[in-house]
Amino acid sequence: MARRPVAVLISGSGSNLQALIDQSANASYEIVHVISNVAGAFGLERAARAGIPASVIDHRGFARRPLFDAALDQALRATGAELVCLAGFMRILGPELVTAWTDRMLNIHPALLPSFKGLHTHERALAAGVRVHGCTVHVVRPALDDGPIVVQGVVPVLPGDDAERLARRVIQVEHQAYPLALNLLTSGQARVAGDCVQVEPGTRTLIIHPDLSLAGPG
Ligand code: GRF
Repeated sequence: MARRPVAVLISGSGSNLQALIDQSANASYEIVHVISNVAGAFGLERAARAGIPASVIDHRGFARRPLFDAALDQALRATGAELVCLAGFMRILGPELVTAWTDRMLNIHPALLPSFKGLHTHERALAAGVRVHGCTVHVVRPALDDGPIVVQGVVPVLPGDDAERLARRVIQVEHQAYPLALNLLTSGQARVAGDCVQVEPGTRTLIIHPDLSLAGPG
C-alpha cells in the first residue's frame, strides 16, 4: 500500500521529527516536507540529512496571526501532505487553520492530557505531586492541547526527580509514541470518530517506560 504523505511542523531541536523519520521506513507514512517557523531550528538540519525538503516560514514576518496561518496553510497544501504533525511547533494555530485540517492534524504534548495543558508541564507535574506523568499524541482541535487521544506514554515520577530528569524520561516515550500514533492513523488501524479515536481490539495505544517498575512494589 502507498505510504501516506505527511508534513511536520517544528520550531526547535526536532527530536520527535527524528523519531518519525527513523520509524518511517517500515511505516505507512512518508514525511514529504518539514516546515519551521524558526530559521536556525536544528530540526531543519535533521530534515536535510534525511533528504527531506524543508522550508522556513518565520511568524515574525506577518503582522497578524491569521496572515501567518494562511501562509502556513498554503505551504502545507503545496506539499501534498494528507496529514500534518506538530512536533515541538511553538506557535498557537488559529481556529481557521485547525478546522481546515480537522482530523488530519496531530500534536504531541509532554503530559498525560487532559492534565497539564500548556507550558512547563514537567515543573507543574512535580509541583502537583503526581506519581505518573508522560506524553500524549492527540488529534488537534481549536482549543489548546485538546482533542481525541491517539497514544499515551507513561513514565514514573521518581523521588529526587527535577524537571530536567523527568523531561529526559518523558522524551523517551515521546519518541515511541509519536511514530506509533501516526502509523496507527495512516494505516487505518485507528480512526477519528467524533471526540474519540477508535482502534481495533488488541491494538497497542500505550507506551510504558521501563522505569515504571522502579516506582515501587507492584
Ligand atoms: C516535546 O517535548 C514535545 O512534546 C513538545 O515540544 C517538545 C519538542 O521537542 N510539544 P523536539 O523538538 O521534538 O525535540
